[in-house]
Amino acid sequence: MNSTEDIENINILTQYLNGFVISKTVFTACEMGVFDLLLGSKELLSSKMISDRLNSSLKGMEKLLDACVALKLLKVERKNTQVLYGNTDLSNLYLAKSSPKSQYYYMMFFSESLYSKFHYLADAVREGKWQREKFDNSPKNIFEELYSSKENIKKIMLAMNASCSLCGRDVMTAFDLSHFPLICDVGGCGGALAKECISLYPNSTITILDLPEVVKIAKKDFVSAEEHRINFCAVDFFKDPVPEADLYILARILLDWDDESCMELLTKVHKACKPGGGVLISEIVLNEDRSGPIEAHFASMLLLFYFEGKIRTPSELSRLLSATGFKEIQMKKTQSQYNVILARK
Ligand SMILES: C[S@@+](CC[C@H](N)C(=O)[O-])C[C@H]1O[C@@H](n2cnc3c(N)ncnc32)[C@H](O)[C@@H]1O
Repeated sequence: MNSTEDIENINILTQYLNGFVISKTVFTACEMGVFDLLLGSKELLSSKMISDRLNSSLKGMEKLLDACVALKLLKVERKNTQVLYGNTDLSNLYLAKSSPKSQYYYMMFFSESLYSKFHYLADAVREGKWQREKFDNSPKNIFEELYSSKENIKKIMLAMNASCSLCGRDVMTAFDLSHFPLICDVGGCGGALAKECISLYPNSTITILDLPEVVKIAKKDFVSAEEHRINFCAVDFFKDPVPEADLYILARILLDWDDESCMELLTKVHKACKPGGGVLISEIVLNEDRSGPIEAHFASMLLLFYFEGKIRTPSELSRLLSATGFKEIQMKKTQSQYNVILARK
């Protein structure tokens, strides 16, 4: 007979074993539009109605719906002989596409871009990074892959905006930024943080700095003309000068790059920063003893497939900032998985 300890261990292992099944179940239900259909429906629906409307087999859909019930993404009601499905609050809020807090596009980014890469995790671990060129038809680099078409860029921007919709306010309120009139969001992407910033700090103006192809899409599809306190700067932050500002936001930027590139970027920002100005960094940060949090280690593994960067500890980030001339470094943990650091010129 198994001891209590055995049972606990077996349960942990079973959870790990099924981790990818859970991810793929959620991705598939999102992708097929289960949560959108149920949010839009005024009543609970049977598996037959759902499979008909989503053009799927009844057998497959029943299995998917029941797995979603077990994951608490759907609720079920039995009426006479009928089994009827509806969204839980969690799915209405975070998985249906139309919700303001929807994580649909973040889920799709994980599903379409990241999931398949993990097939090569052992190769990436052996070699220290994923050797794309070893795989037929693999683009040579990250930008060729992720930025291969307008459609792909837009998907990434939607994914970044989705996750910002959960953490943006926490990040922008970790410190009082009201005394920085001119703010530059370096790698500002689809503008989710910039919008948060102008709603919180009505006397500030913000510039979204990003690559020209990203800025073009941001202007066209993400930031409306009424948001007139948002400007744009289409540059490559490694090749081109950055504009003068009182505060530079670097949200989820440093983690993509090795120390040398981070130093190059921070030095450039320090030079351009107005006297008395500063830099606000928002990143997933490792505990000083690297013991966790687990999300930081997951993010670290994802980076093996894309960038040269790493998830850093507080002291590693402080060292980069000090070495590039920043001082008065303060760090705050937010309720989200991001830490926020404010440092002054
Ligand atoms: C991980 S995303 C972070 C986006 C945003 N800061 C956020 O937290 O949602 C990195 C951003 O940096 C931009 N970026 C990457 N390399 C760049 C470069 N060389 N010059 C300007 N922007 C760059 C990308 O286009 C992307 O928008």
